[in-house]
Formats: sequence, C-alpha cells, structure tokens
Amino acid sequence: MSARPRIAPAGNRSKDSAPLRDPSFVKGKPVTLSSLAEHKALGEPIAMITAYDFPSARVAEEAGVDVVLVGDSAAMTVLGYPSTVPVSVEEMLMLAAAVRRGLETPLLVGDLPFGSYEVSDEQAVATAQRFVKEAGCDAVKLERGGSSVARAGAIIAAGIPVMGHVGLTPQTATALGGYRSQGRTGERALEVTEDALALQQAGCFAIVFEAIPSDVTDLIMPRLHVPVIGIGAGPATDGQVLVFHDLLGIYDGHAARFVKRYASVREQMVAGVQAFAEDVRTRRYPAPEHGYEMAPDERERLRALLASKAAR
Ligand code: KIV
Repeated sequence: MSARPRIAPAGNRSKDSAPLRDPSFVKGKPVTLSSLAEHKALGEPIAMITAYDFPSARVAEEAGVDVVLVGDSAAMTVLGYPSTVPVSVEEMLMLAAAVRRGLETPLLVGDLPFGSYEVSDEQAVATAQRFVKEAGCDAVKLERGGSSVARAGAIIAAGIPVMGHVGLTPQTATALGGYRSQGRTGERALEVTEDALALQQAGCFAIVFEAIPSDVTDLIMPRLHVPVIGIGAGPATDGQVLVFHDLLGIYDGHAARFVKRYASVREQMVAGVQAFAEDVRTRRYPAPEHGYEMAPDERERLRALLASKAAR
C-alpha cells in the first residue's frame, strides 16, 4: 500500500490530467528535505514510521512511507530496556546501519540517544557525524527545546539536517512528571510553543510534536513553516508518526492512548512458533519435502565405505 496516491506514469495520463509534480514524489526517488517541505506546502500528509533493523526497513520501503526514524524507542521495543534512557550510541548505530541497508526511498533519520548530545555543541556535532558517517543516516533527531536548540543549531551548521522533538520528550520524562501529555496548562503550552519556534528558528527541517492536546497543536501550527509530524498531537499536523512495533502489534508492553493498531503480528508470531514446537514434538516436522536426497548408488557406496572402515 502506498502512503499517498503516486503519479501515474506519463504514458497513462490523459491530456487534461494534473501537471506532473516534483519527480521526488514518484516511488523509488529518494525523499528529500525539499520534497517534505513541498508536501507541507501542498497540504499532503507525511507518513513516518520507526524501524530498527533490515526487515522493518524493507517493510517501510515497500509500504511507501516518506520518513523512517531509527527511534531511541528501540531501547524498549527491541532491546528490552525499561525506558529510552539507557540505549547507547553504539547500539543505535548498529540498528541504524541495518536500517540503512534496507532502505532506498524514505528519508532516514537517526535518533540521538540520551547523553550523547547535551553536554556541548562539540559533543552534539561529533555524535551526529557518527550517525551520518557510520550508519548512513540522512538526518538526526534530538529532543527538547532549551539547551537542545543550540545543539541543533551547531549540528545544522556542521551540515547535518536536524529534526526537533517537543512536548512529551521521553528522554527527560522523569523531569516532566512521567509519560504524560504536555501542554495541558496555558503556561506549559506556551513553553512547548516556544520550544517549537526556537527549533524552527535554529534551522530544524521538521519537528515532532508528541502527546500534546489537539487544541494546542491547532494554535501553534499557523506559526510553523517547517513540517510538523505528530504522535498524539491531533490531526492538524503535517504528518503522523507511529512506532513500528506499536502499529503492527508486535510490542506487548503498555500502549499509549494515541496508538492505533493496524495488525496483530505478535499473535501471529506466537501462533507460528507454537505450531512449529508442536510439529517438532509430534514429529510432523520435518516432512520428506523438507529434506535432501542422496542418489541410490551413492548411498550404496557410502554403505560399502562404512562397512570397510568398520572392518579395519
Ligand atoms: O523514539 C521514537 O520512536 C520517537 C518517535 C515516537 C517520534 O521519538
């Protein structure tokens, strides 16, 4: 399934059909920062998902999403940590490099993990460069406004595109009072707005809004000219993102209110593995068609060889 209707090939278009749009909209042409900006300008929603390995990247590619984020949510969904905080740069780089190997078309964004960019501009630039050089990411994402705004600016000045992330920022959830929606008071909503505007001012090419009341999003959106990708921020954003394991029903941990499940893959995985174990225990697997054969004359030759070895 494609994220949006793709343009018909030139030969299939009638004379009075719409003029050809930017070729970057055609599947197979890599998504760029300018094609994302164009989606916003044209009011075409942007579809973004997370991916953490080669097979999930291939799924994202075939499904035709616009942006793939190697999110630090990997800490919980694939590495089994209790939060996103413990995941290391090395772990994220290994996952991002695997995603890169499976991805051709969507823009690939690597999430800078907690503790890898906050200390100084130098630290932020050095970490971002590793995501580009070692893992092949097109861009990086970092969380929060405040001191992260300067870090974003430094990374952008070093030539690496940055995606911001405001509202519920899981890396600092403890300081925010837990995994709860942000901007429910006028003051906090103003802070979220100011964070978003500062990240835009610093040059971020897009900003994630996480767990923000839809009313707040509605009020901020007219002030943002870069694409805003929402997750639990209502329908007014320029696009939506969901975590791969949440939307496909692979992760069996707590699901936030904004998660919509589009499949129950975990149930199918458990059922498949149960059926395998049952087949092994009842000797239904392997069946003759799963094995290899030896030509009868070679089998006889082996018998003779074994017999002569035993006689020695
Ligand atoms: O880590 C992640 O998956 C994210 C998305 C939820 C935006 O930051």
